[in-house]
Amino acid sequence: MSGTAGRAAVIAGVGSCLPPRVVGNEELARRLDTSDEWIRSRTGIARRHLVDPGTATAALAVEAGASALKSAGRADVDSVIVATTTPERLCPATAPQVAARLGLAGVAAHDVSAVCTGFLYGLATAAGQIATGLADRVLLVGAEAFSTIVNPADRTTAVIFADGAGAVVLRAGTADEPGAVGPCVLGSDGDLSDLITIPAGGSGHRSRGVPAHPDDHYFQMQGRDVYRHAVERTTEAALAALARAGWRCEDVDRFVPHQANARICAAIAERLDIGSDRQASNIERVGNTAAASIPLLLADEAAAGRLASGDRVLLAAFGGGLTWGATTLTWPELAAVAAPATAAVREPAG
Ligand code: UT7
Repeated sequence: MSGTAGRAAVIAGVGSCLPPRVVGNEELARRLDTSDEWIRSRTGIARRHLVDPGTATAALAVEAGASALKSAGRADVDSVIVATTTPERLCPATAPQVAARLGLAGVAAHDVSAVCTGFLYGLATAAGQIATGLADRVLLVGAEAFSTIVNPADRTTAVIFADGAGAVVLRAGTADEPGAVGPCVLGSDGDLSDLITIPAGGSGHRSRGVPAHPDDHYFQMQGRDVYRHAVERTTEAALAALARAGWRCEDVDRFVPHQANARICAAIAERLDIGSDRQASNIERVGNTAAASIPLLLADEAAAGRLASGDRVLLAAFGGGLTWGATTLTWPELAAVAAPATAAVREPAG
């Protein structure tokens, strides 16, 4: 083997972070026309973590990133990628700030924008950087202060979306070792971009020179249509990723889907014939955390001891764009993975 031939991205560390404030369904039902029963039965969510005023995406990303670097046993990387729907600012990207706050100023750093599929797009990007020799080690973070873009008066989104961050460290290795990331399958359909959108704030709206309606600065979703596309596209992507990896559905030890909605996850698992004993889920406790969802769930599963070295894991996600994706990986041998960091989420002083 010479040069970059045969290089594969291998997971070397995992970490996560949740803001300390827990908001249950009853609290939402006090200010919105909804109920605990509706939220639980339609989404599977009982509670979620939300940031307090003054805390945004970078703070969560830094905590999750620090936890993943600690789990990897090394603090150095060549590249930092942040997948997020809620960047600190429209410009510049959030990743350079996260890198600097982790003591990594100087490394390559950029954001990935693919809404709930962001972590899988980021994983494919990180794996590509490693396969081509652009990087030997990459920190990939999925982080969202999603509540900052949710319209507090919109019961269709306020009950679903939540805040948090998860991170993985990837290193150069070989495809046959535990932790190796398999082939990534990614897709999109921009003809359906209006189904999940923040209409105002970008150049499309600004170029028209017309003041925006205040609601157009908030996240908007046509849930029923999204639901249908999510089940179909995610299932197709998962089957394509399995085929490329040479795995059958019955080979999967753990299915780790983006936690969009418990019913969506169950419908996809049913189509893949993956029983509930092989499905990972934490949506009941953390809600839908968009780009943070998959790495948060991986960290949860690892911390709970539900992932063993060599386990065959299937990841799949769907989100705005529309975008979707799936990949396989085998679980690495990792030192103990910490439960999500919560208390230490702080913005820097000043
Ligand atoms: O994360 C990746 C992208 N996002 C997703 O994948 C989310 C996809 N969509 C969904 O998860 C679901 O469509 C929702 C959870 C958003 C909605 O569930 P649903 O079963 O599709 O409900 P629906 O939109 O068909 O609405 C059913 C009823 C409607 O009332 P009518 O028209 O039947 O009288 C809604 O107005 O439920 C009503 N409704 C609510 N009622 C109480 C909608 N939201 C709420 C609410 N509380 N929070």
